[in-house]
Amino acid sequence: MRKGILGLTAAAAALSLGLTACGGDDGGTTGTQSSGSASAPAAKPGKIGVILPDSKSSPRWESADHKFLEEAFKTAGVAYDIQNAQNDKTAFQTIADQMITNGATVLLIVNLDSGTGKAVIDKAKGQGVPVIDYDRLTLGGGASYYVSFDNTKVGTLQGEGLVKCLTDKKVDKPVIAELNGSPTDNNATLFKAGYDAVLQPKYDSGEYIKGPDESVPDWDPRKAGTIFEQMLTSNSKITGVLAANDNLGNAAITVLKKQKLNGKVPVTGQDAGVQGLQNILNGDQCMTVYKAVRKEAEAASGLAVALAKGEKPTVSGVTKDSQTGQDVPSVLLDPLPVTAENVKDVVDDGFVTKEELCAGEFADKCAKAGIQ
Ligand code: BGC
Repeated sequence: MRKGILGLTAAAAALSLGLTACGGDDGGTTGTQSSGSASAPAAKPGKIGVILPDSKSSPRWESADHKFLEEAFKTAGVAYDIQNAQNDKTAFQTIADQMITNGATVLLIVNLDSGTGKAVIDKAKGQGVPVIDYDRLTLGGGASYYVSFDNTKVGTLQGEGLVKCLTDKKVDKPVIAELNGSPTDNNATLFKAGYDAVLQPKYDSGEYIKGPDESVPDWDPRKAGTIFEQMLTSNSKITGVLAANDNLGNAAITVLKKQKLNGKVPVTGQDAGVQGLQNILNGDQCMTVYKAVRKEAEAASGLAVALAKGEKPTVSGVTKDSQTGQDVPSVLLDPLPVTAENVKDVVDDGFVTKEELCAGEFADKCAKAGIQ
């Protein structure tokens, strides 16, 4: 059994939820012992449809979420269909329609924006298909459940991480550039609320100087590179970069490298993928945030499987939809900050393998970081 490094209450709650939701199923591989009564044959659980958002904004969707969800569905013995909308909002809706036509009785979606997310939820609901908002809350959507991380805390960790890196480097009156996530992703709003709560008081007191602050459409790393290039051209004194995820951070690092500023200007991130962790081992990125996606996938699939069996699982948390004011039943997991000191934990947790992370020139750096 894998021992997670996030041995925390939310994670524990999610696991126990998995057990209750499955009606005490002790890890069996078929879903047949769920809701059947003596007189009626046990209902065959319906099919679960999953729509992932893209594969460019972060490596996580294909390398972690897809993999861990698939593993969980296989273990539960349910039929599933996992597709990726590749950042195409029209395709996102077409995939949802097709999944329902092809027998999906539960949908798990990572919306590309709240508008199209809501359109999918409305249509699904109309056909009696419950929808789980996976990772991103659909504002105004009224999904049946929301499974994610404490995303404001993710932002707080990023803000605190940047402050620590700047303090360690003894940067006086740092000028901060903020490279925010997609303006259509509610998570990006929450991350920003978290890091601005740390940084704004420092801007206000004059300890830090607020530099450029821009959102990156679709979390697109290419657009992030262009935006950061312009930021650095118009403000060459940038001495700290709050990048909302590793891909945006890597885009900034690529630009900084051209000016030989990489490693001097601390850059943050999120997702703890191979490239982000390598940037940390190289000293070009000062921190990332690890989110144990395996636990997120397990919590969401636990709910989806229960729904597919016709059950109504209960969860202890709620999240207020800022648009409707309504509470969405939620499971929110705890994120973990990662610096050069604890990159090892992400490997130990099985999120990235030593083989991928420590290939080639990274072998020595991994050894120094205690990754054996
Ligand atoms: C996720 C992040 C991811 C970003 C870009 C956010 O909604 O929470 O983990 O980096 O989307 O895909």
